[in-house]
Amino acid sequence: MNRFTAAAFAAVLACSAAQAQGVDPLAPTGKWTAYSAGRAPTPPMGWNSWNAFASAVDEEKVLGSAKVIVDSGLASKGYVYINLDDGWAAKRRMPDGHLIVRTDKFPSAVTRKQKTPSFKPFTDKLHAMGLKAGIYSDMGRNTCAQAWSTTPEHLPKGSVEEREVGLHDYIDQDIALYFREWGFDYIKVDGCGLRDFGPNSPKVKAGEARILTPILDLGAISRTDVPAVKDLFRRVGAAIVRNNPDGDFVYSLCIWGAANVRAWAKDMGNVSRTSDDISPAWGRLMVNYDSAVHRALYAHPGSWNDPDMLHIGAGDFDANHLTEARSHFALWAMMNAPLLIGADLPTMPASLMEVLGNADIIALNQDAAGNQATVAHDSSDLQILVKTLGNGDKAVAVFNRGWDPMDVNLQATRMNLRDDAPVEMTDLWTKKQITFTKETKLRVAPRETAIFRARGTRALADGLYLSEQPGKVNPAVDGVTRPIPDPGIFRTAYGWGGTRSPGDRPQYAGWGGARADSAPYGQTLQIARKTYASGIGILANSRLEVRNEGYRRFTAKIGVDDSATDKTHPVTFTVYGDGKRLAESRPLKWGMPADPIEADVAGIKVIELVARSAANENEALSVTWGEAALTDRQPR
Ligand code: GLA
Repeated sequence: MNRFTAAAFAAVLACSAAQAQGVDPLAPTGKWTAYSAGRAPTPPMGWNSWNAFASAVDEEKVLGSAKVIVDSGLASKGYVYINLDDGWAAKRRMPDGHLIVRTDKFPSAVTRKQKTPSFKPFTDKLHAMGLKAGIYSDMGRNTCAQAWSTTPEHLPKGSVEEREVGLHDYIDQDIALYFREWGFDYIKVDGCGLRDFGPNSPKVKAGEARILTPILDLGAISRTDVPAVKDLFRRVGAAIVRNNPDGDFVYSLCIWGAANVRAWAKDMGNVSRTSDDISPAWGRLMVNYDSAVHRALYAHPGSWNDPDMLHIGAGDFDANHLTEARSHFALWAMMNAPLLIGADLPTMPASLMEVLGNADIIALNQDAAGNQATVAHDSSDLQILVKTLGNGDKAVAVFNRGWDPMDVNLQATRMNLRDDAPVEMTDLWTKKQITFTKETKLRVAPRETAIFRARGTRALADGLYLSEQPGKVNPAVDGVTRPIPDPGIFRTAYGWGGTRSPGDRPQYAGWGGARADSAPYGQTLQIARKTYASGIGILANSRLEVRNEGYRRFTAKIGVDDSATDKTHPVTFTVYGDGKRLAESRPLKWGMPADPIEADVAGIKVIELVARSAANENEALSVTWGEAALTDRQPR
């Protein structure tokens, strides 16, 4: 080990989970390590009870929407998960700890054969309809409704212990019950139990709940015990795998972007909430959208960012707000968000059923390549999102976030298409065709998202930039050593604290994470004054895993990004192929022009891109893999 690598190794060890084992987290593994268990090769689609009914959920309501899902054809378009949220549990029976279903709400749970109520008839019914069934629990002893609900009639009853319906001391028992005995296919694991039952909790003071020392604090990452939270999610994940021998499950993490989960959920489960709850208000939508939109590199087939369920059908997204409802749907589709309808479907107007059923937009979300859209134009007024589809087509969404209509010049090059060849686009709402060369003008109304599928001649004739395929790039180590809240997320006056609070302050950790076509803190990628429209921006002491499907050549222009504040420490860039070193740069410092790096990756399955430095932890050492690309595809 040379001086650089030894020092860099020490710096990384200082704050890494691998520290305990003395493992170098930057050492190549030769593996793709993002989560791939369960059944989420594309984002899950379906329905969830919470947005429509909160804790007042019951069997009739759930089956009412499930029936519409089937009868309207939405099920055949992919909406198959019917998920119960909070509000189904009566109590935990003592002393055996068996969970008891609210039979007043779910009458089919009373079976003649068994004395103990069972959800099996309910899941059987959904399965017979060709659907799948989801259940809700909490990682602590109590659920979110138990912490926050103002309708006690919907909460579990009994002694303090009997009211403890969360997973905390019952992981194996409950997971076996949900999946093996009751036949569920999906679980959402909430986190209020880890947060809201400290000594000052009103519920604890009222004698309704036991203290569980909080290990999660949405407002303060430094008050969160990240390793402990991760460990609990890992344990539940292992129990889910054990209890689903056929692997047919979805594991959904719901800790609202707390505990730096936006960085690690991709290693732990199938979907993970990136922010606090959505509500049917434009400002909240923006919070949830912003919490996921720059995190394309943290989503992959098998593990998706979840900006929360759809709220189409209510408030700012009801039938009187078609522009907003369509934007919500288009943006969620582009971000590869789970598409979970949150409305009472028997009462849903036809115009909104049409939004939910737009097959062309669903196809973008469900595209097998699994590339979350990346942000090709970024401003507070307007964003252009581009998503590379499996067949090479591009999906493009032009989102007017502002208050005035915007005239937009949409350029072919923004989509990594050549500007000297025609681009054909289809408007996915109106089905109108547009053909243009170089650029086209669009007028986009306030809050409107124009969305197209485009085909042209790719800028890279025989390959793809890595930033065009974020689903195949995993920031296994993203170099963020001290997670800090992301200031770039919309902050709404109508947050949970309302206007009597000090406001909606930055709270979602993950600032400085890896980005496609952007430096880690949002600047344009730039090395020694030369900008790169395409590339990966990441902090030093990072390791990216890249899945290679048949390309023979890896190339990039590398260097310390001009946005780095650490101007002294050199960085060494290394390219590995299936664990073996293929190429390494000289040490590169801030201000030095980019070096080209290339490697023969024929036959290599996993490429790893490592940037090492003896970085000063108080400075940002951003590095750029400019124009990083895989080219020279093997003929198939
Ligand atoms: C939390 C979650 C919501 C919902 C409620 C249920 O707030 O974020 O999605 O599950 O709990 O109480």
